[in-house]
Amino acid sequence: MEVEYKINEPITTDQFVDLLKSSTLGERRPIDDRECMEGMIANSNLTVTAWDAGELVGIARSMTDFNFACYLSDLAVSKDYQKHGIGKQLQIITKEQLGPKCYLILIAAPAANTYYEHIGLTNVPVCWALPPGDSISS
Ligand SMILES: CC(C)(COP(=O)(O)OP(=O)(O)OC[C@H]1O[C@@H](n2cnc3c(N)ncnc32)[C@H](O)[C@@H]1OP(=O)(O)O)[C@@H](O)C(=O)NCCC(=O)NCCS
Repeated sequence: MEVEYKINEPITTDQFVDLLKSSTLGERRPIDDRECMEGMIANSNLTVTAWDAGELVGIARSMTDFNFACYLSDLAVSKDYQKHGIGKQLQIITKEQLGPKCYLILIAAPAANTYYEHIGLTNVPVCWALPPGDSISS
């Protein structure tokens, strides 16, 4: 398996959706909402992808200012390619694009919660989220 990594390589919405499905992350993403999926691809500004013979097999899709904060929204590796270090390498390359004072922040899927500790990330209990449909109380 010779995996090639690319930074900000354009990908189609279909390639993104297929990868989410084949990684199982599709169960936790709105893959049937085309407009949402297109918006996710169009508006990320740091995407690291992994390719095997032209096939997209992994992605780390982030939004960042490159200086203070980088939100890693989707980390996914196709099932047949998991546990070969691809997820880790995608995050290493993502981090390499960021300035020295930049935080990498993400929300773990339940199945991946122990993964992030295993590869050296710190759990931050002060992280808060506003789920879709909720509003700031007046
Ligand atoms: C989670 C995911 C991105 C990890 O990518 P990967 O390429 O399979 O993982 P890596 O090969 O980089 O794993 C690095 C290490 O973590 C371990 N690891 C992998 N998945 C793990 C998991 N779910 N829980 C705990 N440890 C895990 C590996 O065994 C490896 O350990 P080692 O370095 O001691 O050998 C991938 O399994 C995936 O796409 N899962 C489904 C989607 C998902 O949950 N994404 C995360 C959303 S927050």
